[in-house]
Amino acid sequence: MKIRKLAFALGAEITGIDLRAPLDATTVTELRKAWLQHLVLVFPDQQLTPEEHIRFSRCFGELELHALKNLQGTTHPEILEITNRVVDGKRSETAEVGRTWHSDGSATLRPPTGSLLYCRAMPEAGGNTWFASMYAAYDALSDRMKQIVDRLETVQDLGYFYGSRGIGTRDPCKVNEDIGDNPAVVQPLVTVHPESGRRALFVNQSLTREIYGMTPAESAGLLNYLYAHATRPEFTYRHYWRVGDLVMWDNRCTQHLAPRDYDPDEVRHMCRTTLKGHPQGRYLRDIPAPAAAPR
Ligand code: OGA
Ligand code: MN
Repeated sequence: MKIRKLAFALGAEITGIDLRAPLDATTVTELRKAWLQHLVLVFPDQQLTPEEHIRFSRCFGELELHALKNLQGTTHPEILEITNRVVDGKRSETAEVGRTWHSDGSATLRPPTGSLLYCRAMPEAGGNTWFASMYAAYDALSDRMKQIVDRLETVQDLGYFYGSRGIGTRDPCKVNEDIGDNPAVVQPLVTVHPESGRRALFVNQSLTREIYGMTPAESAGLLNYLYAHATRPEFTYRHYWRVGDLVMWDNRCTQHLAPRDYDPDEVRHMCRTTLKGHPQGRYLRDIPAPAAAPR
């Protein structure tokens, strides 16, 4: 097994390993260590069936079925298909997934630990995924700013996401059902990674609605600064996919983005498994309203 760093802030390529073969405990421990250190691991040139993809993923924890239950796969509910492929004459509902920076499930009470995304088809050019280290973003703040954000919380809201970005190729009834199933949550703005003990910015321009308890103007000012800061190029790794790549990211300390940087008439097809996270945050509706802010 060989590990090669891919960028300064995050990302490493792992070669010399066949993910179809059952892995021994030592190899799994080594991979987990590399994952915690590099945050995004790229395994090129893998030939995986859905069952093998699921089995490899389970080496890193229990899998979750997607929070948006109507996006769960039918034959393999553990696999979320992200594709613009036409299935049964219908345009896929996941064609526009990930178009703005986000971490997965930040608007739930159990944000996933990580995900393993496998590439089945890629357009001739583009179709990249970008990743950014939220450790690097936090570390680069001034001590004064760290003291401020350490104490703040945000409101994370799936309804806000669809309200501000549109529903893309999704069925409006299913979107409404998903929003009903996922009421707004309050999350810490800075999280402490349970395995590394390091602090990470936990704020993203897709799902973060506001800073809890601030006026809209205060909140927008600080959030816009943090969004621009968090995704500065030096904190990122950009992955140029090849069919057969499996990329696994730590969702607790990274964000990602899938830009529309390819010909939409060409097929892009990705399969994702998701590692179940730990309870974090609380429902906004369960918290007494904060004292009215001055105008
Ligand atoms: C995801 C996602 C990125 C991509 O799988 O969570 O945002 O490149 N997808 O498809
Ligand atoms: Mn995502």
